[in-house]
Amino acid sequence: MASLPTTNAGWLELGNQYLLRHPMRTAPLVPERGDGLYMWDVEGRRFIDFQSGQLCVTLGHSHPEYVKALCDQAHKIIQVGTTFIAPSEVLLAKKMAEIAPDPLQKSFFACTGSESNEMALRLVRKYTDRFEVIALMRGYHGQSYGSASITGRGGMLREGYGPMPTGASFIPTPYEYRCQFCRDEACCNLGCADAAENVIDSSTSGRPAAFFFEPLMSAAGQIVPSKEWIQRIVEICRERDILTVADEALTCFGRTGKWFAFEHFDFVPDIVTCSKGLGGAVPLCAVMTSAEIADAAVAKGFMPFSSHAGDPLLCETGLANIEIVDRENLVENARVVGNYFMDRLKVLEDELEIVGEARGLGLCLGLELVTDKRSRTPNFEGAAMVTEYCYENGLWLPIVPRMQNKDPLSLRFMELSGSQVLRFMPPITITEAQIDESLEIIEAGLRIAEERTARVAPAAV
Ligand SMILES: Cc1ncc(COP(=O)(O)O)c(C=O)c1O
Repeated sequence: MASLPTTNAGWLELGNQYLLRHPMRTAPLVPERGDGLYMWDVEGRRFIDFQSGQLCVTLGHSHPEYVKALCDQAHKIIQVGTTFIAPSEVLLAKKMAEIAPDPLQKSFFACTGSESNEMALRLVRKYTDRFEVIALMRGYHGQSYGSASITGRGGMLREGYGPMPTGASFIPTPYEYRCQFCRDEACCNLGCADAAENVIDSSTSGRPAAFFFEPLMSAAGQIVPSKEWIQRIVEICRERDILTVADEALTCFGRTGKWFAFEHFDFVPDIVTCSKGLGGAVPLCAVMTSAEIADAAVAKGFMPFSSHAGDPLLCETGLANIEIVDRENLVENARVVGNYFMDRLKVLEDELEIVGEARGLGLCLGLELVTDKRSRTPNFEGAAMVTEYCYENGLWLPIVPRMQNKDPLSLRFMELSGSQVLRFMPPITITEAQIDESLEIIEAGLRIAEERTARVAPAAV
């Protein structure tokens, strides 16, 4: 048998022969093992992982107790039929109910974030007997047709896939840094919330079933809405009997310095979807809601199931994940270390022309890069340059696509996708010393990008 490749290039070449690869699968390294904050490629090079796997491994790679729970369960039983419940499934749902505020109490499980939103969409439609929903422009909820239909991005996410399921209308993103409603005002006037109300009243029956949103819009560029906006939108929803569905795929279970990101805004959604940070590495997702909504939906015939719903291996491992987060006080670590990290990012915002804004919550942070602070022109080139510099110096950041051309529509799609934003989401076990180590690399990359891409905007006339 031919010997296996030993280099990244060798594996990438073999991968090209047998895998369907595409522009989202272009990372130049092939990870082979991980330990905590770090991962190593097949050539033995070490990287600090600021993407936490695919934003899943909040405990870091292969936490020993997590691995033990996974292995112990694998030796007992891995999978059972969907008609059974598993003890670990019950205990995980119970733990989630203890952590989440009332009335969130009942959960059902499956595997991916897309699936959780797909199921939440079915739930709200069955429960309300209504099919319309609203969602946010720039929001991301997944790849399946239902979850894609509430994703507020066009371009390559829609082109060529035919019609999406109908029913979704989109409201403006609460994106203060690039707000079209209050940019000429001294402060936020909640114009985007007024516009949302207009969308609901003009594009829907006035009573859609639900509003799907990410309390922190990470994929769009770490956009954090204001508390006033959330509270106003929730008020608009409640006036119209619209259920609120918080998509906490990557913010759930500690990442933002609270168990759930919605807790930063003093409100409790009717339904929460969780995935990445729930399983901690294994493919596990949940839809969580009140007993009242769950029971009423089931009474109407709502019947979510799939082959891996509630698998003992997934639930036992997810339970171990949450118990470790709890026992090691990692939600607090995300808050404290996140604040330290943010303070240092704010210094860079003050010092560098290309840093338009540092923002985020806990350990879900980012820097929006611009060509200059006055024009706020998105600096895609700078973001790609910093990402590349970090990679060359042993820090892995979520990949930022290189600008393919300067065609205005492509630029628009890149901006809508937050391609000018560097995202920092390390495991929530990270220490301040490790933040210092990582920031040294990020700052050096930013200074190079500043030299090469900053420009002085013409003075306003
Ligand atoms: C907020 C949000 N929802 C849903 C998803 C889809 O999750 P998955 O890729 O597991 O289907 C993602 C993935 O990044 C996400 O960030």
